[in-house]
Amino acid sequence: MTRKVHIKTYGCQMNVYDSQRMADVLRPHGFVETDAPDGADLVILNTCHIREKAAEKVYSEVGRLRALKEDEAKNGRQMMIAVAGCVAQAEGAEMMRRAPVIDLVFGPQTYHRLPALVDEALRQRAERTSARVLDTDFPVEAKFDHLPGDLGARGPSAFLTVQEGCDKFCTFCVVPYTRGAEFSRPVADIVDEARRMAAAGVRDITLLGQNVNAYHGALDSGGSATLGELIHEVAAIDEIARIRYTTSHPRDMDDSLIAAHRDIPACMPYLHLPVQSGSDRILDAMNRKHTAERYFEIIDALRSARPDIALSSDFIVGFPGEDDSDFEATLALIERVNYAQAYSFKYSPRPGTPASVSEDQVPEAVKSERLARLQDLLNTQQHNFNAASIGQTVDVLLERPGRRAGQLLGRSPYMQAVHVDVHEAVTNGDYTLDEAQGTNYDSLIGRLMPVRIVAAGPNSISGVPLANEAQH
Ligand code: SAH
Ligand code: SF4
Ligand code: F3S
Repeated sequence: MTRKVHIKTYGCQMNVYDSQRMADVLRPHGFVETDAPDGADLVILNTCHIREKAAEKVYSEVGRLRALKEDEAKNGRQMMIAVAGCVAQAEGAEMMRRAPVIDLVFGPQTYHRLPALVDEALRQRAERTSARVLDTDFPVEAKFDHLPGDLGARGPSAFLTVQEGCDKFCTFCVVPYTRGAEFSRPVADIVDEARRMAAAGVRDITLLGQNVNAYHGALDSGGSATLGELIHEVAAIDEIARIRYTTSHPRDMDDSLIAAHRDIPACMPYLHLPVQSGSDRILDAMNRKHTAERYFEIIDALRSARPDIALSSDFIVGFPGEDDSDFEATLALIERVNYAQAYSFKYSPRPGTPASVSEDQVPEAVKSERLARLQDLLNTQQHNFNAASIGQTVDVLLERPGRRAGQLLGRSPYMQAVHVDVHEAVTNGDYTLDEAQGTNYDSLIGRLMPVRIVAAGPNSISGVPLANEAQH
């Protein structure tokens, strides 16, 4: 019997990976994915708890789904609503109380049990019990050992989780509570999964972990590998042209990883290295355990290993106790590093975290004003970074159809979104379409092309492919 599952993903890339693995786990049980909740037998909300609004979004989505579920029931169809991910882990029991329409709640570490959980929820519904299914364990057996080998379609770019959990306990952050303790997958498992991804057409892999550069996975030969060593192993797979990793912590930026940017051509010249604040006093209160000066040393070492490396970061403004001079220190750090892109947030007190009970909360209006100034600076830097690409030729991995006909969307080595006008290059005969895959331009997806950049905007750049068929 074929059943339909719709999975909606919030939050970080690890949730994106987890959602794909949920689909992989369900597929042998007759579930096919559908991209809308309408008509689905099972809807999974894979949630994020990092900031307030994220959880609120989940509640309003559950509200919308309730209406849909009631409509379906009138037509004699049953729809099951499941809440997964970090909100499920943190507030699962409360969610079930607040929204009785939810049939099933499970956390990020138990989704390998999903088919059994779904059966159990179905059974309880058939018996019309008021009990529902809640599974927010941190099981001793790692979920990775129980995930199926078969991967669904992945497209040319894929995420691969290599490390989970966090032991760092930054005082603002819920992740150590929602994802549990730090854990690294063995090297052989990761290489095996990367090979299967390569066989499924993947060319670009992003290695994921909440603290990806704290990676220390077991080697078959004994001992453990650093992330730098793991990148060497994955780069040895021929089809894998590009490797990235995220998210890194400054404390774990070791020499082998910095050297990987110099020595491994597939290791892309882009790094997301969140610093959060430029003030040592605030960094200390955040429990980040490094100074601004140490961060600059790392940036300098990275730039001498790979001069063109593009940098990105996360920033929190209005952390408890942050005063004007702390904030100015953050602006000064940004000026000095010069980022290609960045994410920034107002501090949001999260239940159960140490900073949430601090007496020195910063007023909302001050947070808003600081965020606007910070984002202004970051936007200018990002725009300048993009503008500097004009006239250059960059390799672009084509990932999906573009907005306009004859256009495809891809990424530069520096993570910029690139709109590529393929129409003319194909008409000229510079590139040939694979007739077997249909005659539209989508058959070029997955190719790596040298593209001359002709225009730049705040969030993307655009260009035309050069005639160099040898590149794909
Ligand atoms: N492991 C990563 C980041 C995980 S969370 C790291 O160590 O950097 C992603 C980002 O969300 C963080 O970098 C931080 O900038 C932001 N964030 C986390 N908790 C937050 C909070 N309570 N309020 C505002 N932003 C927060
Ligand atoms: Fe959260 Fe800090 Fe761990 Fe990152 S390192 S996941 S910010 S506790
Ligand atoms: Fe959000 Fe959980 Fe990721 S809280 S950011 S989905 S680890």
